[in-house]
Amino acid sequence: LDNGLAQTPTMGWLHWERFMCNVDCVNDPHNCISEQLYMQMADIMVQEGWKEAGYEYVCIDDCWLAHERDSQDRLQPDPTRFPSGIKKLADYVHSKGLKLGIYQDVGNLTCAGYPGSHGYYDLDAETFADWGVDLLKFDGCNFGTLDILVEGYKNMSRALNSTGRNILYSCEWPLYLWPFHQPNYTDIRQYCNHWRNYGDVYDSWQSVKSIIDWTASHQNLIVPVAGPGGWNDPDMLVIGNFGLSWDQQVSQMAMWVIMAAPLLMSNDLRSIDSKSKMLLQNKHLIAINQDPLGRQGYRIGRVNSFDVWERPLSDGRYAFAVLNRQEIGGPRQFPLLLATLPSWKTCHPECRVTQILPSYQDLGVQNLFSALKLTINPSGTVLFTVTLNEGLAAEQKWNWNMT
Ligand code: DGJ
Repeated sequence: LDNGLAQTPTMGWLHWERFMCNVDCVNDPHNCISEQLYMQMADIMVQEGWKEAGYEYVCIDDCWLAHERDSQDRLQPDPTRFPSGIKKLADYVHSKGLKLGIYQDVGNLTCAGYPGSHGYYDLDAETFADWGVDLLKFDGCNFGTLDILVEGYKNMSRALNSTGRNILYSCEWPLYLWPFHQPNYTDIRQYCNHWRNYGDVYDSWQSVKSIIDWTASHQNLIVPVAGPGGWNDPDMLVIGNFGLSWDQQVSQMAMWVIMAAPLLMSNDLRSIDSKSKMLLQNKHLIAINQDPLGRQGYRIGRVNSFDVWERPLSDGRYAFAVLNRQEIGGPRQFPLLLATLPSWKTCHPECRVTQILPSYQDLGVQNLFSALKLTINPSGTVLFTVTLNEGLAAEQKWNWNMT
């Protein structure tokens, strides 16, 4: 969507995977969907280096609404859980130098059964703009007919645009269309800043793998449309929760970086462990995710239960990720012959290789005949960049800026 927003993939925090529809503030005040939750996350995002790392949007998902619109048909938040109202919450988030995201649905009801936007697109867009909202996640439950689904997403895009406020528009339009027919991605890109294609992420490796595999198997269709202003959204990062081993967390981060995915964490920043925090705040990884060229990576091969992905970066650089899909046994070696890469020319006559995950390591100057011996844990990933040696000076400057 050409509204000047999302020139690089969106970064922030979104409540859904970790906190879901917990509305029980009586018994579970610390984890329920309430204004306090977002204020606390905003505080921590500033105090604990998240904002500085680039995470900017604090986003509300489903279950923030009251069950009825007000007497003028306007949306209103649940009065007991959001006693100060959304405008106050937005002011608070803005006072921290962050942005506020909110959630609605194209149909009659949200997925959790709260009032949807159908029939009220203009009014709801105006309400969000009045409140000072900066991002809208627009869900697609209970849409009725396919016409309402597609026209609804388009109408809300126009409605947001007419408010005159900059509101980033996060869609789920293709996800809800897929069961019926192949979405028109040119259309979708024209109306949305990012869009979900595939089912919800869960806190499990099974779920993360299924998203990676769906993306690879549809890459010819979806990779070409991604770029500044419009991105494929493989859903939230679940790093720092309960379901992923350390290597699987590394793999989710590596793959989301390669896929030029929005980095929307769904975790509890109040209690996240320091290792997961370091992974999510790794400036080399974030720089690749946010690379100004804005090209999404793709899978270039599967060899011997290793998946090999590449992402073209600015200044002729490339990022590579090799994911060990074998989940039995110990670490395995992957001998990577640089001459076999589609982008082999980068290493002719010489290139510089830098490993970033699972740990930072300068792998030195290599050439076409070099075989890198990568050691990769089961369900883990090695991520590295390759730079033309001619660009060595530029690379050194880039690394320098990173430290
Ligand atoms: C379905 C979406 O795909 C999820 O990300 C989340 O927003 C839920 N709906 C909320 O009900």
